Amino acid sequence: MSTDSYLLENRAPDAGTRFVALSALFDGVTMRHVDGIGARAGWRCWEVGAGGPGVPRLLAERIGPTGYVLATDLDVSWMGTDLPGNVEVRRHDVATDAPPEPGFDLVHARLVLVHVPQRDEALRRMVAALRPGGWLLIEDFDVNLQPLACLEARQEAEQRANRVRAGFRELLAQRGVDLAYGRTLPRRLRDAGLTDVAADAFEPVALPAAAALEIANVRQVAPALISQARASAEEVDAHLRAVAAGQLDIATPPLISARGRHP
Ligand SMILES: C[S@@+](CC[C@H](N)C(=O)[O-])C[C@H]1O[C@@H](n2cnc3c(N)ncnc32)[C@H](O)[C@@H]1O
Repeated sequence: MSTDSYLLENRAPDAGTRFVALSALFDGVTMRHVDGIGARAGWRCWEVGAGGPGVPRLLAERIGPTGYVLATDLDVSWMGTDLPGNVEVRRHDVATDAPPEPGFDLVHARLVLVHVPQRDEALRRMVAALRPGGWLLIEDFDVNLQPLACLEARQEAEQRANRVRAGFRELLAQRGVDLAYGRTLPRRLRDAGLTDVAADAFEPVALPAAAALEIANVRQVAPALISQARASAEEVDAHLRAVAAGQLDIATPPLISARGRHP
């Protein structure tokens, strides 16, 4: 995938805010799975589509100075410069660039594959990078499982939030995002030959970081929403003001976390 087809590209100024919000929402979930898998000192980890420094830094803490974290992304400009010495940052397209040396104990991608048109090939490459007994952890939204911005839509502002979210979903689908990908993960991991497959879902219903994520996302896609008449400029402005004022309980889609082990 080129950076041009990625709707929420990292070059936009709101990308940094988005990575901070994603960390606040989901780093706890990710690390619960990493700990459940049994990550330990000395492990080699590949963090695919890292975005910001949050997960690479947490992985580096878990595996200690004798371990190694390779953090890759199409755009690494939000990774920062103060990462621990056992983290290597590399610009890399998971679907098309030569994969790194295999033998990883853990390969993880969160909210990446859903955006990658060649997601089957990307998944195949991640599985191939595992050592025998190594773990793959894939986390992705299932947007269609819970498509709303406001689960309870009694007021006009909540209904407007859901109309803006519907427009956002349509933009994502236009760019090739699979809106029902999350639910398919356990099957895909089994089909890839992995064992001990397990999955769960985490659903933010009204968390402050979900409001911050909403503002970053809607600001970034506002020009497309307006030019395609999916929302008016007035609606977008009113929605952003209502979210910023804390007037809405903003939900995200459920994050499905699925793990499996190379035999
Ligand atoms: C929604 S962000 C998620 C960032 C981070 N994984 C997280 O959960 O906070 C998606 C990230 O995937 C990256 N990405 C998209 N397509 C990619 C590809 N083909 N190869 C590598 N990274 C990709 C984007 O640049 C972006 O940083």
